[in-house]
Amino acid sequence: MIFPIVAFGHPNLRKTAQNIDKEYPDLDKLIDSMYESMYQSSGVGLAAPQINKSIRLFVIDATPFSDEIPEPVDFKQVFINAKIVERSGDDWTFTEGCLSVPGINEDVVRPSKIKIQYYDQHWEFHEEELDGIPARIVQHEYDHLEGILFVDHLSALRKTLLKGKLMDIAHGKVKVDYRMIFPQLKKKKKRK
Ligand code: NI
Repeated sequence: MIFPIVAFGHPNLRKTAQNIDKEYPDLDKLIDSMYESMYQSSGVGLAAPQINKSIRLFVIDATPFSDEIPEPVDFKQVFINAKIVERSGDDWTFTEGCLSVPGINEDVVRPSKIKIQYYDQHWEFHEEELDGIPARIVQHEYDHLEGILFVDHLSALRKTLLKGKLMDIAHGKVKVDYRMIFPQLKKKKKRK
């Protein structure tokens, strides 16, 4: 099943997502559908809040990045109840985008290394150190669980310059080739 992606301005993108347990219904199906939805919209990562579920789950497949950067990135993983326990390394600037914020790509500074604890889809516990592209994508997806978007990391000036574009996204005035839920558009329809 392909989920529509929640667009900038939706309150669920601003919530702190909740941990889940082994009893969470149809988790395998949900994970499959998240991968499906991510591939369909050509993303490299997708967090549950982006499909309107406020739970601590995200999926990553960085293989498509191989076309854009010289060294191949073999990084595909499901993260359940993830917790970043350490951020280290140098500040690293990298251009990010987000399926919930289509048409905007901006340089974001983040630490180059992280240590993360999480469960995989088989409920095996992991503690791993990541750096480079994997650490970058994980930090972006992890932010979604905390109600943070990559544009929040930009300078006040950049944010001001992007304000109009972001409002357009919230109102559905943006070209995308995947299905989205636009918060402001929805409100308008209800009033009819
Ligand atoms: Ni994102």
